[in-house]
Amino acid sequence: MTAAPDIPPAFTLVALDSVDSTNDEAKRRAKAGAEDGTLIWAKEQTAGRGRGGRPWVSPRGNLYCSVLARPDCTLSEAAQLGFAACLGVGAALGSVVPPLTALNYKWPNDVLLNGMKAAGILLETSSKPDGGLDWLIIGVGINLASHPDDTAFPATSLAAVGAGGIEVAELLEIFCRQFQTWVNRWLDEGFQPLQRAWIIRAKGIGEPIEARLGDGTTVAGVFEGLDERGALLLKTDDGATRTIDSGEVFFATGGG
Ligand code: BTN
Repeated sequence: MTAAPDIPPAFTLVALDSVDSTNDEAKRRAKAGAEDGTLIWAKEQTAGRGRGGRPWVSPRGNLYCSVLARPDCTLSEAAQLGFAACLGVGAALGSVVPPLTALNYKWPNDVLLNGMKAAGILLETSSKPDGGLDWLIIGVGINLASHPDDTAFPATSLAAVGAGGIEVAELLEIFCRQFQTWVNRWLDEGFQPLQRAWIIRAKGIGEPIEARLGDGTTVAGVFEGLDERGALLLKTDDGATRTIDSGEVFFATGGG
């Protein structure tokens, strides 16, 4: 494969050798007026960021990219594009891993291979003075060649599951095509098809889990599914259903 990947025309590729964080670069460009579909891709990140303020260690050999989107919708609807990205990553990884590799999603947008995290997504938004959405940045990190071995939830990589042959640029192409397919379904049909596809592969559905909320408190219950916006539905011991908009999920077995 040549160095320049063949990206669908909906994206404007900015290919960088090294950057602090592709999300930060996308944010700088968003503030300077960059268009919807700007795609930042870097071979390494020196200050990669994960959810919850955690670092995302970003050596060469893995995929780091961020899409700048300016959808005509509310902030809360825009977060559904995180599921489009998650399903895009899932489809891309599903097309390159060995046939019996288990592929699951961990709420909200992690992709697991054989029960371990192979990819994560970081959404960041900014609103206009009138409260409407200005831009959304969808940052995607996929472990191809390597993965950290000191994370609370165990990590893995394509190489570790026996799919080390794929090049980063090739996976970026596949991801972009799959992501665009899910974005188009979301535009045409709304969140429901994404919700259905995500739930089929959701880890822990129907099982007891714990959700740690932004304020550090924890809620235990049975993972019932997603609501029509993508929030997590948790049935607690008192029989009530709690709707969780953001937080981290921990499973009864198999780590956080
Ligand atoms: C997570 O914590 O699971 C989200 C990880 C997101 C990492 C990606 S790598 C590309 C983009 N740039 C960043 O700094 N973070 C995201």
